[in-house]
Amino acid sequence: MKTLVKRHLPTRVLNSWKTMQTGLTNTREALLDAKRHRVYGGPGEGSFDSSWTGRQLETQLTKDYHRVEKGLALREPKRPFGAEVEKRLRVGLSTLAAGTAGPITYGSFAESALTALQSWNAGGAADPRVALPVVRDDVLRQANSSEARTILFDDFFTSRRSIRDFDSSLNVDIADIEAAVALATNTPSVCNRQAFRVHMYTGKQAVTSVLSQQNGNAGFRNSIPVVLVVTVDARLFSGASERNQRWIDGGLFAMTLGWALHSRDLGTCFLNWSMKNSESDALRSSAGIAAHEDIVTLIAVGIPPKSFKVARSPRRQIDEVLVRHA
Ligand SMILES: Cc1cc2nc3c(=O)[nH]c(=O)nc-3n(C[C@H](O)[C@H](O)[C@H](O)COP(=O)(O)O)c2cc1C
Repeated sequence: MKTLVKRHLPTRVLNSWKTMQTGLTNTREALLDAKRHRVYGGPGEGSFDSSWTGRQLETQLTKDYHRVEKGLALREPKRPFGAEVEKRLRVGLSTLAAGTAGPITYGSFAESALTALQSWNAGGAADPRVALPVVRDDVLRQANSSEARTILFDDFFTSRRSIRDFDSSLNVDIADIEAAVALATNTPSVCNRQAFRVHMYTGKQAVTSVLSQQNGNAGFRNSIPVVLVVTVDARLFSGASERNQRWIDGGLFAMTLGWALHSRDLGTCFLNWSMKNSESDALRSSAGIAAHEDIVTLIAVGIPPKSFKVARSPRRQIDEVLVRHA
């Protein structure tokens, strides 16, 4: 059919036919994305009630306990605050208590936040276990040393390059990847929801199976010893306004992971997952990734040979990137 159309239609008509096809595909994919958000994400806190369970309840409790943490961490917290938050925390915690056995981390965070909120609103002090007192050096350690700032940090940021040539005789220490993932969990995320997940593939067959579904690694696939798939749990986002949040949180996490791997002297190359929904379905089912996870990016990990080449990848000028407003 396609060949028939190509052969008999003038270029102008053929081009507008192609444009129309692309438009239809874009719309179809956007509708499928929206469907995933509707199916896996929650309905938004406006409709919260005691029937919420599982990830929906976790999402709401996390949003609310974090509101308490943020509120109490202000220089001058409002008093009282969080009436709706308190109500939802109480309802959510009683649902959680009724439906579960054993400790659930976010449940205990929600519980201590509720206690801290109630105590603050009753005239008590801000609970230091919920709003932690720190000194500047705890969060800006690099400010201690101007030498460290220029040598260590500038070098660190400017030395990372995408590696497309790995030495397959050099083994990646999996403990380094695990350490990098642990470091990357320091990434900020919306209301501390930490929806990110990392799937690690190390066996030749598993690595090849994942990589063969991605279109940007063909030239160096055989040299890649480890591939990571960064995903986000779509169930941790709710309501229309959070429809794109998972990509932001997942992207931020992926980049932190890239830096953390770099800090462990591992070479990386991000591999785009700019794919249609059907291709994501195929990767999920072949690679053991749950249906509720969205695929953010792949990352090839390995150690480059002693000498190799990197793409030039020139940078934009700072004035093009930084738009100054006074
Ligand atoms: C999300 C993302 C997807 C990418 N996908 C690919 C890819 O499929 N194949 C590839 O060779 N490089 C890929 N890259 C690497 C970019 O080409 C590279 O980051 C860019 O040119 C800047 O170069 P540098 O990383 O060496 O600084 C990707 C980068 C990002 C951030």
